[in-house]
Amino acid sequence: MFNEKYIFHGTIIDTPDPSTLRIRKQHICTVNKGKIEIIKPADSLNTVDVYRDYTIIHLSESQFICPGFVDLHCHAPQYRQVGSATEVPLLQWLDKFTFPNEARCADLSYARNLYTKLVSRLLRNGTTTVQYFATIHLEATKILADICQEKGQRAYIGKVCADRNSPDFYIETTEESVRHTEEFINYVHRMEKGRDIAEMKALIHPVVTPRFVPTCSLDLLVQLGQLAKKYDVHIQSHIAETADQVAFVHALHPDVGNGRDVAIFNQTGLLTNKAVFAHGVYLADDEVDHMIASGSAVASCPIANFLFSKGITAIERFRRKGLKVGLGTDVGGAYSSNMLPVVRAAVFGNRTMDFVSIDRSIAALPEFPEHKDPDIDFKFAFYLATLGGAHALNIDTHIGSFEIGKEFDALLVDCNKDDQAFDYWSEDEKEVEESLEKSSPYSPRTCGRGSFQYGLILSIMFIAYTFFVGGNYQTFSKFYFSFLKFEKFKLSNEDASWGMILFWLSSSVGRFLFAIISIFLSVNICLSIIWAGALCLAAAWLTYVWIVGLSSMSLFLLGAITGLIFSPIFPLSFGYFNQRLNVIPMLLGLLLCGTALGAMSSNKIAGLVMDHDPNHFPTLLAIWILMATLLYIASHLVYFCHRRPSTDTGRECVNEEEKGVMMEITNKENK
Ligand code: GUN
Ligand code: FE
Repeated sequence: MFNEKYIFHGTIIDTPDPSTLRIRKQHICTVNKGKIEIIKPADSLNTVDVYRDYTIIHLSESQFICPGFVDLHCHAPQYRQVGSATEVPLLQWLDKFTFPNEARCADLSYARNLYTKLVSRLLRNGTTTVQYFATIHLEATKILADICQEKGQRAYIGKVCADRNSPDFYIETTEESVRHTEEFINYVHRMEKGRDIAEMKALIHPVVTPRFVPTCSLDLLVQLGQLAKKYDVHIQSHIAETADQVAFVHALHPDVGNGRDVAIFNQTGLLTNKAVFAHGVYLADDEVDHMIASGSAVASCPIANFLFSKGITAIERFRRKGLKVGLGTDVGGAYSSNMLPVVRAAVFGNRTMDFVSIDRSIAALPEFPEHKDPDIDFKFAFYLATLGGAHALNIDTHIGSFEIGKEFDALLVDCNKDDQAFDYWSEDEKEVEESLEKSSPYSPRTCGRGSFQYGLILSIMFIAYTFFVGGNYQTFSKFYFSFLKFEKFKLSNEDASWGMILFWLSSSVGRFLFAIISIFLSVNICLSIIWAGALCLAAAWLTYVWIVGLSSMSLFLLGAITGLIFSPIFPLSFGYFNQRLNVIPMLLGLLLCGTALGAMSSNKIAGLVMDHDPNHFPTLLAIWILMATLLYIASHLVYFCHRRPSTDTGRECVNEEEKGVMMEITNKENK
């Protein structure tokens, strides 16, 4: 799929920031060579010339696309033991179960089989980017890199380094550890998708990976720091994870950086802006500041933290301070290789803050804290699993959300599959759709509904135009009152100026009123109502003046109604144009200003004509009506010509391969 061109048509969901779930319904996203070219409302889809060579994929009502998950911390060999024996403390768990299990990857056919299953499983789970710990074995680690390349998963892979505090069967010398790490870096950089000039575009990346401080001598850490610098590559390790680990580090290095992980990594050149450290549950505030200053990031693994850390990463506080944070499964120190349970656990973890310290042995109710909205809700957690993770790896300009120029790294989710774990309610879908249909993209209601900036700018312009820019009040007042000065009606100038005020006020009120009405009705319905109203009024006015005659009272009323009805036509017409063509808000602003200029010019011309002979007024009015008619017809014609002839391919899902991996989540709880 990488070299082909696609148009995805349907619902696009992402989280551009932690508090925004952006749902773009009925949108198109065009993808060329794996990159997003255009995202815009489907209304403006124009296949006639530009998109002829694109394959269209129409998403059904129950489908949507969202960004692929980024798993910042996954131990590939531990897929075989995922979540097992996690009742014991971390250091015991490593000794008794994990090191023996990881050592099995010395057998390359075992490793190949295991890693093939793991990468396929993660892709099926919707994880398109993973930062892996492999094992200390160079050849098995190369196999993992090959499999990721072959299956098209973006992978940051580390050969694990451990030259002490490890069992005899799973340890390396310092020299071996450094040499093999360097060999692995060179191996990846020689892979087809392992290196390019911009680096970010590579699919497979080598990561310098000291397992954690206890298994690495200071000498090894220093040499790994030098390697990371020499090749300018990523770094990963564990940091401040559990009480036993923190105590062990302190016992090993009482004199180095006060026995703290952050200081030790810093002193050995491993605290860089390309480093991601797992956990960080026991980080002190000054250590967080230190990490922020270095540009390094934290991979929070909430499920593993529940099991081993007896605490959670203070995700929200870290982010507020400015630390980059994403999420990791921490397979197999946690139950799931799937990011969805991790997203949920991030929400749970944050909730526990509210109640873990409450003493329930006494009557606890009076001590319950007041309800406050949680710091981490589903939007925040989804952000962490997508754009937040990408930010931690410094590839947020590249993947993690849907923006023009980014890679189309996406999942196709179908909420209505036979074998899924929940039921699908299509009525809910319709309700959302109806409420969206009612509001126009020019209304303040659109703000926050996916087109925040777009809706906001248009709304501000529309309202500003309503009050300040609309200059055509003079046109009609001049028409009216020049005409009124004509002898046969015998009205004084004073009457005329009151009429002008009334007209001016009603013009503004009319525009404002329709700005509000267009929140609830679509622009074209508003336009049709107002246009029909204006036509009736014009007919009534001509009949009244020429057949019945005028009184000053009826003229004032007529002036007011005319202002109310005619004045919104121009802004609505241009709003409608924009809705159909989806021009940029700036262009719409120019068009609106253009209407004011046009109105002022026609005012001048009309004034000259009227001064010359007031009897021309009906002719001018007829010309104006003709112009409004043409505008109305033109806007419909433009829409009609731009409507895309639909060619449903009937395809459900484009499958993986290369970048722009498109996955189908079946909503099953995967292992
Ligand atoms: N610290 C060092 N190694 C590991 C590991 O494999 N899992 C976890 N959770 N922590 C570690
Ligand atoms: Fe880990």
